[in-house]
Amino acid sequence: MADLTTTLGTMELHNPVLVASGTFGAGREGSAFVDLGKLGGIIVKSMTITPWKGKPTPRMCETPSGMLNAIGIQNKGVDHFIGEDLPWLLKKKATVVASIAGNTVDEFVRVADKLRTGGRGIAAVEVNISCPNLEDRNNMFSHSKKATAAVVGQVKDALKKVPVFPKLSPNVTSLSEIAEAALDAGADGLSLVNTVFGMSIDVETRRPKLAGVIGGLSGPAIHPVAVRAVHEVHQNFPHVPIIGQGGVANAEDALQLLLAGASAVAVGTQNFINPRVSIEIIEGIAAYMDRHKMAGVSEIVGALKLEG
Ligand SMILES: Cc1cc2nc3c(=O)[nH]c(=O)nc-3n(C[C@H](O)[C@H](O)[C@H](O)COP(=O)(O)O)c2cc1C
Repeated sequence: MADLTTTLGTMELHNPVLVASGTFGAGREGSAFVDLGKLGGIIVKSMTITPWKGKPTPRMCETPSGMLNAIGIQNKGVDHFIGEDLPWLLKKKATVVASIAGNTVDEFVRVADKLRTGGRGIAAVEVNISCPNLEDRNNMFSHSKKATAAVVGQVKDALKKVPVFPKLSPNVTSLSEIAEAALDAGADGLSLVNTVFGMSIDVETRRPKLAGVIGGLSGPAIHPVAVRAVHEVHQNFPHVPIIGQGGVANAEDALQLLLAGASAVAVGTQNFINPRVSIEIIEGIAAYMDRHKMAGVSEIVGALKLEG
């Protein structure tokens, strides 16, 4: 069988398929369906310095070819991750990517500090900068070059050698400008992309379907957005490791992101429909590599043909 190992800077994964933050919790429910050690990795639910309750309900609704969510990063906090989830995940032989969030630069840095001292065994940190910045009128960090650079630079300082992957928002005019700000600040790679802003209305009640009114659109509806984002950033920064995500529902979707330039993909919303889908995607990528007589994942990464 093909060698599925993939390399993202200093991080090596035994295959290129992870599960996306917020769609597999810390793996406990999913482990009934999937041997966590067989995944390329698990990106856990974003964690904050203190437990967050999240937004009022309803927080999710279905949309054509996707879903909207405005959960508000409900989580039990970084101490719970370090004390309970991480040891359990490592015992299951999972490759763990910690996802961190905050409402100020300082909040991100405090989580990163805790992970440096208590997070032994994590493979990388994904920085969820699609959070409102309380110090900038609630604008998302990921929508500002300055705020992106501030968070990434200080988180990287705090984490030292742990690879840092800021997760960028597609809701910007120039994704490459934000990517450049993150890379200049010390990012080791990038996660592309988080959800797309959306909104849905119940016409009978005339109420928004989400209590938070506006939410993040995910699922197959956003896959072309993710492919475009990975392609754009890979063209501009060809040596930067990318975790592609957005609407991956099968091996072909994953392969599109790899061909566009991602070195790994993360599967999100599709886990709610089929919690075993990531394993099926790994098998599908292996079958593709066999069919195309490819010896390694690096032969797929960025192998898009633009001419001829
Ligand atoms: C219910 C739900 C919760 C999510 N929670 C988080 C989160 O805590 N942190 C984060 O960075 N992304 C979060 N995301 C975004 C996903 O990780 C993923 O980037 C996005 O949904 C696009 O991938 P998909 O279309 O495969 O779902 C969440 C998505 C969903 C649907």
